[in-house]
Amino acid sequence: MVDTRVVLSGITLDNPVIPASGTFGFGREFAELYDINCLGTFSFKGTTKDPRFGNPTPRIAECSMGMINSVGLQNPGVEHVVNHELKELKEYFSKPVMANVSGFSIDEYVYTCQKINDAEQVGWIEVNISCPNVHGGGMSFGTTPEAAAEVTKAVKAVTTKPVYIKLSPNVADIASVAKACEDAGADGISLINTLLGMRIDLKTKKCVVANKMGGFSGPAIFPVAVRMVYQVYEAVKIPVIGMGGVSSADDVIEMMLAGATAVQVGAANLVNPFACKEIIETLPTAMKKYGIEKLSDIIGGAH
Ligand code: SIN
Repeated sequence: MVDTRVVLSGITLDNPVIPASGTFGFGREFAELYDINCLGTFSFKGTTKDPRFGNPTPRIAECSMGMINSVGLQNPGVEHVVNHELKELKEYFSKPVMANVSGFSIDEYVYTCQKINDAEQVGWIEVNISCPNVHGGGMSFGTTPEAAAEVTKAVKAVTTKPVYIKLSPNVADIASVAKACEDAGADGISLINTLLGMRIDLKTKKCVVANKMGGFSGPAIFPVAVRMVYQVYEAVKIPVIGMGGVSSADDVIEMMLAGATAVQVGAANLVNPFACKEIIETLPTAMKKYGIEKLSDIIGGAH
């Protein structure tokens, strides 16, 4: 029997597979298809202080080996998430859940993280400083080490749960941003969010996405994600959650060899709602194929 368990900031996951924020909602629709308690955990829809309608449509553009989204952090706001979504979640998910938080100012990050921190079922807080689809916040906090450190420090001052900072790949030096977060007190790093992309419709000669640009995700970005996880693993001592184009058990193993303790699956959920379940089911066979008995032993194994 192979051992798929990993430990993320003191909490043991049955396996390292975590649906990524924004691709799994609050899990309800997926729980209608299968028992989502097979997951390591999941990262719920990015939550902000106030409810958000999101960006104008169209928000999605299809690409070879991936997709562009410009959702714009559509969500019901933190009060609703705490008072309704998290209360209902208990009925179909019994494990600690990862709360994903976004903001437009330091004060907003602090407000939302503080509220979320008090929710019993929240095991970790994933602070998104990398959303490419909004102005005046989001990615702008993740593109310099100084701004990333400022958010991290402010959030850590008001939380007791482990804080993971979700980084943008749209930077020249990902390692220095990750190190600044670690120095400011982060408990872990999540990466990568989407790459800024664009598609143009040849018939209309206009951008496909109403917001013009959006975040590119899917299997095409997997090698970029592996490279950045590898670089960040070398730069920090805190755990790394790897993501970006993961769609198979082999991808999970590769991401862990690069340095990930756990692995998020994003765009694959939108193509196949059973993607995470299938990855978890095929993980033991893949481990046997590569002679791995204990999955946690391979973390950073490529270094
Ligand atoms: C979005 O809601 O626009 C996606 C979130 C993100 O990419 O961080």
